[in-house]
Amino acid sequence: DQLMKGISSSIKVIPDPESELAISARQGSFVVKDNKAKKEKAKQAKDRSSLQGTALGNVLGIEGKTEKFEEPNKEDEDLREAPIDTLSIQQQRRQLPAFAVRKDLIRAISENQVTIVIGETGSGKTTQLAQFLYEEGFASSLDKNGQKKIIGCTQPRRVAAMSVAKRVSEEMNCKLSEEVGYVIRFEDRTSPQKTVIKYLTEGILLREILIDPNLEDYSCIIMDEAHERTLSTDVLLGLFRKLLMRRKDLKLIVTSATMNADRFTRFFGDAPQFTIPGRTFPVDIMFSKTSCQDYVESAVKQVLTIHLQNSSKSKLNDGDILVFMTGQEDIEVTCELLKEKLEMLDDPPPLDIYPIYSTLPADLQKKIFSKKNEFRRKVVVATNIAETSLTVDGIKYVVDTGLIKMKVYNPKLGMETLQVVPVSVANAQQRSGRAGRTGPGVAYRLYTERATKNDQMHLQPIPEIQRTNLSNVMLLLKSLKVDNLQRFPFLDPPPQDLLSRSLYDLWVIGALDNFGNLTSLGSDMSNFPMEPTLSKLIILSCKNEFHCSEEILTVVSMLSIPSVFFRPKERAQEADSIREKYVIAESDHLTLLNVYNQWQQQLVKSNSSYKKLSIWCDKNFLQIKSLIRAREIRNQLVLIMKKYKLPISKSRSDDDVRKCLCAAYFQQLARLIKNNISGNSQAEYVNLRNKVMTMYLHPTSALNGGTDMAPNFVVYHELLLTTKEYMSCVTAVDPLWLLQYGYYFYGVDEKTQANLKNLIDFELIDKKDFEERLNFDKLRYQDVISS
Ligand code: CDP
Ligand code: MG
Repeated sequence: DQLMKGISSSIKVIPDPESELAISARQGSFVVKDNKAKKEKAKQAKDRSSLQGTALGNVLGIEGKTEKFEEPNKEDEDLREAPIDTLSIQQQRRQLPAFAVRKDLIRAISENQVTIVIGETGSGKTTQLAQFLYEEGFASSLDKNGQKKIIGCTQPRRVAAMSVAKRVSEEMNCKLSEEVGYVIRFEDRTSPQKTVIKYLTEGILLREILIDPNLEDYSCIIMDEAHERTLSTDVLLGLFRKLLMRRKDLKLIVTSATMNADRFTRFFGDAPQFTIPGRTFPVDIMFSKTSCQDYVESAVKQVLTIHLQNSSKSKLNDGDILVFMTGQEDIEVTCELLKEKLEMLDDPPPLDIYPIYSTLPADLQKKIFSKKNEFRRKVVVATNIAETSLTVDGIKYVVDTGLIKMKVYNPKLGMETLQVVPVSVANAQQRSGRAGRTGPGVAYRLYTERATKNDQMHLQPIPEIQRTNLSNVMLLLKSLKVDNLQRFPFLDPPPQDLLSRSLYDLWVIGALDNFGNLTSLGSDMSNFPMEPTLSKLIILSCKNEFHCSEEILTVVSMLSIPSVFFRPKERAQEADSIREKYVIAESDHLTLLNVYNQWQQQLVKSNSSYKKLSIWCDKNFLQIKSLIRAREIRNQLVLIMKKYKLPISKSRSDDDVRKCLCAAYFQQLARLIKNNISGNSQAEYVNLRNKVMTMYLHPTSALNGGTDMAPNFVVYHELLLTTKEYMSCVTAVDPLWLLQYGYYFYGVDEKTQANLKNLIDFELIDKKDFEERLNFDKLRYQDVISS
């Protein structure tokens, strides 16, 4: 009772009838599936299941309680699925909102070079548009003259490209990777002869432009989900402005949620908008009366209120709940708290609790898609992943914390911070809409209506180009000979400090010369589809001095996947102690190498049996999917190495690998200022780039060697601000190496001079020599800034 009181006072139950969402939902044309037939069948199944113990049970000759129950349940589920299964895949296509407007849509696209297509999630933009164009003869496979015209459809996310290509190949009744295929980084599932519809990530299209600036193989390009405004979306949009002038016959279709659509129209000189009428149900929006103190607690209370108020013993589950949380930790706490509170209740109605976030192992992720059980309610506690990229059917209630964990790059500190920030109004609408996919729903927002109307929430999300490290994209644009970045047509230009920082970073690592032009190292680097430091690392490892490309390829592959270590909260200690087994004390990079090599050994031992490997991974708290992917990435990198005739050689010692890491990462350097003498405080480092920032080894780092001395100098892969400034993926280096490989960098920045004095005090550098270099480098620095 107390629980309920607390909840009802914090939520003001007023649907907001004038909200845009409610209005657009009312205006949408609804197609309500024939639920009657479905219900009837379910009822029959239920009736039958009560007979199971007798007639059917006897016929089947089943004895024993459990089996008797297993059989009817299966039947029950099959019947529930039946109405959907009997719809042929073609019938399903015809029911999509896009199908109803197909003719007009094709006409709009035929008559214009650029068309902006707007439509609700699920209207068929991603799966149907490309097929329509293909069916209308916009594409042809490779002909005798070596010409082809294919339809490309870009996706912001890898997973989407893969799953959509699979779905479309099924709809077209062909084998995936033949007529329909996909390309994501390190994986090409297309056929050069046959493929006519190609799903690809935006990053891949950018790389294709690098190889063929006119994209001659394409007749149409669909930029899907452009409203997400990823860094690559924005760069592609800018490139298309010129490309479309060179290729008058190329069609560009930009699909977008309502948000951002007008910006795209203006950007392409008044390109027409085509709106696919939606199929959504109205969603009532409830705001909190006061802003909540603890969003985890409020969300838990809200979920329980929904669950208890809408359940009774006799009633079926009336709909599932989707909670938007910020990240893994919050999700785990929410799930635990929910379980706890439920246990405190006397015989509560059944509630299944599922967490979902991107680093959750795939088999656990799949669980949320398990078949609907009419008697049990499901609550899915998710990150932003459930906002657009993942759809759980049967959601009727949405609980929205209104928060999102966002990576923001700080160019002054050269550091990414992971911050919990309010979502934009547009995101909030999208989240609420998830409750209205299969029937009318309710969205409970754990923030006030006021918050959406004053400055607390942006109207639109901040595009990635304004909050991320741009080095990678700058290198790409430089390779595309876009010399004057000031004149590049950005939809929203990146802030100046972000731009200069990225150029400066590229200069520091030697990819740009003093005039801002690509150096030969820079152009070699652009052959690798990865961030500049990693490409440089690979190129350096081929030099005879380091001679360790065999190892570096593995390290780079392991850095290109999400963490291989699985650390569920309730078994964190166990996971940590197992991880110890793999630790190489002076380097996280070498630790990753070690994990990979042991996995390789298992691969041989187990004769590549997925089952055996999966058992081994579970036992060792390693993520099998990540390891498989690391292996695929490595194989792809080997192909690139061969293409450019780069040697793959085994190192002579671990030190050589660390030297190579030092040479590639010298600009990301820290020096120990306070050791963890007692063993219970954390060692403190100072950033040698800006001299002032205190940083710590990430708690999971191999270098947290208990009572051992923390190393004096370390290079790091990334800086991340969470609760503290953490260096992630760290390797101890010898200061002598730093002077050898990074001297000029530490002569450039005046702030770091004082730190260099330490090195001079170590007598590791000749003072006069250093000052001469410093003057020279200052000159270089000025050159770069001015050009
Ligand atoms: O792009 P948009 O959100 O407009 O819709 P879509 O992705 O083309 O999806 C249209 C329909 O295709 C969905 O409602 C799903 O029923 C189905 N679909 C699917 O079954 N499997 C996929 N991987 C993608 C879509
Ligand atoms: Mg889509």
